[in-house]
Amino acid sequence: MTPPAAEDNVEESLSLLSDRTESTLALGEWIGREAVGGEVLALIGPLGAGKTRFVQGLAKGLEVSERYINSPTFILLQCYEGRLPLYHIDLYRLEKAVELEALGLEEFIWGEGVAAVEWADKGPDLFPSARLTITFEYAGEEQRELRLHAAGARYTQWLHRIRETRRWKILDGTK
Ligand SMILES: Nc1ncnc2c1ncn2[C@@H]1O[C@H](COP(=O)(O)OP(=O)(O)OP(=O)(O)O)[C@@H](O)[C@H]1O
Ligand SMILES: [Mg+2]
Repeated sequence: MTPPAAEDNVEESLSLLSDRTESTLALGEWIGREAVGGEVLALIGPLGAGKTRFVQGLAKGLEVSERYINSPTFILLQCYEGRLPLYHIDLYRLEKAVELEALGLEEFIWGEGVAAVEWADKGPDLFPSARLTITFEYAGEEQRELRLHAAGARYTQWLHRIRETRRWKILDGTK
């Protein structure tokens, strides 16, 4: 294996407030527009926190024409065609951490499209170290705190640009 590029050894976090569903959708859409392929988005948080809403926005940003995007709860993976392929993975039903390879998900996680993984914390830590992890927390009926942790230059640059857009209320950020 080739060692990661030096610029990929960067990590940064940013917390933002989503004050309504549309705000989470808009963040997904923004990321979908920015994606160039090969991104891994690990989505973590309790039931109903907004992970699937985020993926719905992501699909829009990726110009997926499919209208109905739901959690692929009984099937582990749903693929959608868009500007880039969207691999929507949900590990909620995973009983124990099995090898991604055994699940047959590796080719998607390392694929050319954009992989969005709900309940990523239930899976084994075999995801690429360069990834964007978003942790969703309830902060009120319609409010969610989204903690974005970027590992890798591609994702830290997103965090900088997200901050610059001023579209979301930034709660804090650490370098
Ligand atoms: N700020 C917000 N961001 C996202 N969703 C919100 C927000 N406020 C309210 N909601 C509502 O919360 C629900 C989130 O549901 P969603 O299916 O996205 O959750 P989930 O995290 O995917 O849950 P699960 O683990 O069951 O798949 C939706 O009904 C959505 O409209
Ligand atoms: Mg879901």
